[in-house]
Formats: sequence, C-alpha cells, structure tokens
Amino acid sequence: MCHLFNDRSFLAVKKYVLVGVGGRSVMFTDALSGQFKDKGQLLAICDSNKGRLELCKGRLASVYPGLKSYIAQDFDVMIKENKPDAVIVCTKDSAHDEYICRAMEFGCDAITEKPMTIDEKKCQRIIDTIKKTGKTVRVTFNYRYAPARTQIKKLLMSGIIGKILSVEFQWMLDTYHGADYYRRWHRNKKNSGGLLVHKATHHFDLINWWISSWPESVFAKGGRVFYTEKQAKRYGLENHGQRCHNCLTSEKCNFYLDLKSFDTMKELYLDNEDYDGYERDKCIFSNEIDIEDTMNVVVKYNNEVYLSYNLNSFMPWEGYHVAFNGTKGRLEQYCQESSYINGDGGVQGAFQPERTLIKVCPHFQNSYDVKVEEGKGGHGGGDIIMLNDIFGTPQFDQYKRSADYTQGAYSILTGVAANMSLSTGKDIKITDLVKNLPQPQFPLMPGEDENIEFKKNAKRIRF
Ligand SMILES: NC(=O)c1ccc[n+]([C@@H]2O[C@H](COP(=O)([O-])OP(=O)(O)OC[C@H]3O[C@@H](n4cnc5c(N)ncnc54)[C@H](O)[C@@H]3O)[C@@H](O)[C@H]2O)c1
Repeated sequence: MCHLFNDRSFLAVKKYVLVGVGGRSVMFTDALSGQFKDKGQLLAICDSNKGRLELCKGRLASVYPGLKSYIAQDFDVMIKENKPDAVIVCTKDSAHDEYICRAMEFGCDAITEKPMTIDEKKCQRIIDTIKKTGKTVRVTFNYRYAPARTQIKKLLMSGIIGKILSVEFQWMLDTYHGADYYRRWHRNKKNSGGLLVHKATHHFDLINWWISSWPESVFAKGGRVFYTEKQAKRYGLENHGQRCHNCLTSEKCNFYLDLKSFDTMKELYLDNEDYDGYERDKCIFSNEIDIEDTMNVVVKYNNEVYLSYNLNSFMPWEGYHVAFNGTKGRLEQYCQESSYINGDGGVQGAFQPERTLIKVCPHFQNSYDVKVEEGKGGHGGGDIIMLNDIFGTPQFDQYKRSADYTQGAYSILTGVAANMSLSTGKDIKITDLVKNLPQPQFPLMPGEDENIEFKKNAKRIRF
C-alpha cells in the first residue's frame, strides 16, 4: 500500500474505502463517482446501518456496479480484502478515532471529517498511532477553503493590520440549523463532545489558521438555556412527545420536522430506523439533552494573541462576525449565511439573503470596505475547492489550507479544554491534555519573524 500524502507521484489512481454513509458522506461519494472518478476509486463502503449501506450502493450503482459493502463489525475484513490507500471517515464523531487508528494500523492513511475526535484520550490515541505507524491523517476543514475566508487569511498575511494582538469572534446558529443539533446524536456529549467540539472545531481551526498559532490556555462559561422544558412551557408545548413523528403538539410547534416530507431525510433515516433505532427527529426540548446552547470562551494563544469567542445556537439568523485587532488597525468580516438542516445540504432552513462584508479600519485613517471574493456551492464554496485539493492534482498553496492531525488536534483541544473549564470552573492548559503533539505548520505572519518587515505600504493596498 502506498503512503498517500508522501507519495507525490500522483499518477496512480488512488484507492479508497469509506466508513459512515450518512448525510455528509454524499459529498465524498459524489466526488468519487463524478468529477474525480478518474483520480480516485471507491472500492467499498461500511456502516453500522444495513439499510443505509443498501441505499448508498443503489445510489452509486451506475458508476460502481460491484461496490462492496460491509457492516461495521467487518471493517477489518473490508480493509484486508480491498487494500485501500486511504480510509475516508464520516461516522458520528465519537467513532472517528476507532476507524482512524484501525486504518493506520492496517497501513492506510486516513481522511476524516471534522472534528478529528471528541476528547483528549481519543486524541492521544490518534497521536500515538501516527507515531507508531508513520501514517497520515488529514482533517477536512472545508471552511478554510471558502474564498471569503481564504481572503481574510490573505489580508492578514499582507500585513494590512500589522501584527495581530487580539480577536473577537461571534458565531450564530439559527433556530433551523442550530435546533437540529438537539434532535440527533449531537445532543449528547458522549457522541459529539457538545457544540464546543463538534461545531466550534471549525471556528477554532479558522482562528488557529488565520492567526497562524495554537491555543495555550482556555476558560469558558456557558449552559443550556433555550432548548429546555422551560422553553417548551413558554411556547405552550409542555405536552410534547419524545420525537416529532406522531407528536401531538406538532401543529403549534415551530420546530416541527416532518421526516416524511423530505425525500432525502425519509430514505436516509426514517426508512432505516428499524436497523439501529436512530431517530433523526427527537424533541429539541428533551431533558435527555446534555450539550450547551450558549457558550463563551476566552483563549490565550502561543503568539500572545487573546481571543474572545461566543457561540449561540438559538439565533434568528445564521452567520458570524469576526474582528482582528492589530498593531496597525482592525479587520472585520460580517457574514450572513443560508442555513441547512442536513449535512448533505439537502434540506434548507430559513431563507435569508447571503451576504459578506469586509471592512478595514487603519489607525488614524478612514475605514474602507474591501470587495469580497465569492464562492459557489456547499459551505460558502469551500467544499468543491477542498475536494479538488484532496482528490484532484495538487497545487502549491501559499495559504496552507490542507490540515493534518496536529491542526485537527489543536482545533478540538480548545473545545475539550472549554468543556473541562465549564465543569471545573478552572483555566485549562492545553499542554496538560495531550503529550507528544508537535506544533502545527502554518504560513508565517507579519511581525512573527524580526527579519520579515511589515509591508510598509500595507495601508495603501486596496483589495
Ligand atoms: N465539514 C462539514 O461541514 C460537515 C457537515 C456535516 C457533517 N460533518 C461531519 O460528518 C460526520 C457525519 O455526519 P452526518 O451529518 O453525515 O451524520 P449522519 O448521522 O447522517 O451519518 C452518520 C453515519 O455514520 C454511521 N455510524 C454511526 N456510528 C457508526 C459506527 N460506530 N460505525 C460505523 N458507522 C457508524 C451511521 O449509521 C450513519 O450512517 C460527522 O463527523 C460530522 O461532524 C461535517
């Protein structure tokens, strides 16, 4: 088996298997059965749900008529029989480490969905297995690739605000997309690590990459204040059922999700419930939920940058606001996004116009707007650019958007530390969580190396 990311010949067609054929896997299987089918071949699929395996096989039959499928217990058999170069991992988050490590033990590389894993013990297991096997793990951080977010990296690298000193970051999930995390496996920390890991891994990764650094210590406060029985009572929904399907209060509930009325949801989840009891429409007010919906985190970074971050998942609109404060001024991005309630982008939430604004505010001068670079397709246009980077012909990337296990690890460790801070009330040091984790490699930023001068005329640059 070849070493996928160190072997730079790129002539041979790469061989893949995929584990976890739910909503998100469609992005990978569409790529390997469409645009990238000449670059990569899908040999087999694996899942704990037999029905979803059959559905996936049927969907891919025209391009992969002999596609093999394996139930989860036969994952090792799948690897032995098919000898892939890499395993693509798209299961629920808590199972990622198991498949990543088993893939590497069998001599394969791993490509995993975010979050790389959900806690420090599982993270340590991945670090140790990489050391033992010499294999690679790539984490698919699609957010970095969205043109408007890459543009922020470009502006910061140009020195437009000088050396970054502090960051303010607010992320809003709306009552469509945000509510959806309380309906399914994400609602319990043992599956997802809570939104501080599951969702914020994207956000903490963006910060690490944007400022080219990694977290040192973390303090957090937060809780569950909206997706509660108390809120159900405020809406007059105290007689709600345990799930939307057949719920007696569905007619007056704004959160009602009718799985039957969306083809993708019905065939993927409702029709396959008998195999594993996975209910995709559990009640969002349930006491069984143990994740937060309002989270506030303060982080100190290795390069002396301070971050103030908050995530709220019951907002009337979806998007974010980020501001970087530097030695020469301030850079802001405001982004209002469409929201989707399934990983495949199949079911849209509320309609709202998408818009992104970028503003530069130099010290002692007038502020000005910057024309935003726009993308098309899933996740702000990030998905397709990332797929090209994974499966297409690799290009030199001055922004280093491809993420390895060190970056996967540092993006979750902020959330893992925040979870610990929530339960202990203490400031948590990242170095106390895992051992032998190397520093991540990011592009050099202005002011970090004394030999690199800030662009003296940065204030005159117009993007
Ligand atoms: N990058 C992004 O923007 C993005 C978007 C959506 C989802 N995701 C990630 O993709 C992954 C899958 O999310 P999803 O929305 O497709 O969830 P999903 O529930 O639709 O699918 C998960 C699949 O994994 C299977 N599974 C669960 N446990 C398993 C196990 N132990 N062994 C084998 N199979 C198992 C389930 O049967 C299901 O088919 C998650 O890690 C999620 O964080 C990423």
